[in-house]
Amino acid sequence: MAGKFTRDCALALLQEWTASASLVKHGLAVEACTRAYGVLEASRLGLEGEAAGEFIELYALAGLLHDFDYDRHPSLEEHPFVGVKFLREHGWPEVVLHAILAHADYSGTPRETHLDKALFASDELAGFLTACTLVKPSRSIHDVEVTGVKKKMKDKAFARAVKREDITEGAALLGLTLEDHVGNCLKAMQENAVLLGLAGVALVQE
Ligand SMILES: [Fe+2]
Repeated sequence: MAGKFTRDCALALLQEWTASASLVKHGLAVEACTRAYGVLEASRLGLEGEAAGEFIELYALAGLLHDFDYDRHPSLEEHPFVGVKFLREHGWPEVVLHAILAHADYSGTPRETHLDKALFASDELAGFLTACTLVKPSRSIHDVEVTGVKKKMKDKAFARAVKREDITEGAALLGLTLEDHVGNCLKAMQENAVLLGLAGVALVQE
């Protein structure tokens, strides 16, 4: 992969197009989750060294960039199509563009690759895990547990904008139980807690 299409370039693009700090954090949170799935899949495929690194980077790019056009182009007619057109014109990897299109139900692009499925599965769950963290007195994701997340998923009044069925469907697409999917994403976000501003009241990075 050419050096131009790095994680740093993707983050710069996300920041350039996004005024909302919480939307940038959402991109970073989804990146943490998709990257974790990239690591698992690379190891399942027996990839090592540079091949593994490049494979995992694609997962990170998809996570970071999946909503990068949303602040400027939030309508169903434009998101994520405007962003994907821009990325394609600049030569970003097609597998990443396919996953970004496939994360939107209405795009008509089917979820085919493992990356397509991982991005879709991570998107709503990352938002839900953030919501679960922000109601903790500590505001620390280290205090969030899988059982508590599952309980909150059944509470319709909590974070009602998050589509529960996308989370369960995403787990099924990946061939995982809901527990394992929540556990994977929770761990990935906990490992990036400071970056995501979810490390707790005393450790929020501004
Ligand atoms: Fe998203």
